[in-house]
Amino acid sequence: MNSASGQPRSLRGRDFVGAADLSPDEVRQVFLTAATLKAEFTAGRRHAHPPLLRRSLAMLFERPSLRTRVTFEAGMLQLGGGAIQLTSGNVGWGVRESVADVARNLQSFVDAIVIRTGPHEIAEELAARADVPVINALTLHEHPCQALADVFTLREAHGRLDGLIVAFVGDGNNVFHSLALVACGQGVEVRLAHPPGYAPDPAVVTAATDLAAANGGRLLIGHDPRAAVEGADVIYADAWTSMGQESEADRRRADFAAYQVNESLCAVAGTAARVMHCLPAHRGEEITSEVMDGPRSLIFQQSENRLHVQKGLLVELIGDPAGDAA
Ligand code: CP
Ligand code: NVA
Repeated sequence: MNSASGQPRSLRGRDFVGAADLSPDEVRQVFLTAATLKAEFTAGRRHAHPPLLRRSLAMLFERPSLRTRVTFEAGMLQLGGGAIQLTSGNVGWGVRESVADVARNLQSFVDAIVIRTGPHEIAEELAARADVPVINALTLHEHPCQALADVFTLREAHGRLDGLIVAFVGDGNNVFHSLALVACGQGVEVRLAHPPGYAPDPAVVTAATDLAAANGGRLLIGHDPRAAVEGADVIYADAWTSMGQESEADRRRADFAAYQVNESLCAVAGTAARVMHCLPAHRGEEITSEVMDGPRSLIFQQSENRLHVQKGLLVELIGDPAGDAA
């Protein structure tokens, strides 16, 4: 949270395209701001002194979204600013004009840009070109805002992060990548059980392993869901088929059949084990309704925390460091 001098670092102007763009200290700094905003908002559904008065956000969404879009847009409103949603159809990046030209225009209109697209390289290029913060709202490679909310939720639910064990059962995908990078940096043991052929990106595995080694976490990767969940505090499920992979859905349904998060798998972890899912869920596929709606579920707390954590992130990236909302 603090720099070596004891002062919090300013995150103003920074991008958040990959989960490792924020150091473990910086993640805790965002959590602190998010927790303050959450307490204030939960108490009265208003912020007495909205910290992002008249700030604006452009949101480029090439894929569907409920949680990410609404939490960014509502979050900006609650903080005193506003957000404009654009789709690839009306922006046409890479078709109507280059990503570089989109960046050059948007940076003169708004204070930050949020992007959801398939190729991670587009989000990276936008960040390299724009001189305002660019935030990744999901690419096929990462979902870093989700991971911030997930780890914030873990800390709320358990009162600590150090030494917790999270078992991710399913695809070594975007959600897993970002979760591993954030959680390993906070001292969590992250385990993945994936079917053969659905391994995470080796570069992410290396980066998360390094973060774990430096921060007391651990990363374990295998194929056996029951071995992964044994002794776990939390079991994490995500869709078997991510957005953009729809043509593989039948094959994936067969490949992931043994990777359903259901009560019999949760029982291996024990009665206290909780369950997470980034949503949207495919009830009866990667997770059962019994687990999703039962006492183990942290799923809707996770979803609510998307709002609070992204507000914390926005305040850190585009707020006035002096805290002057004017
Ligand atoms: N979890 C998540 O990002 O949800 P949306 O796709 O609805 O934004
Ligand atoms: N892995 C999923 C997450 C959805 C929020 C996807 O990319 O579709």
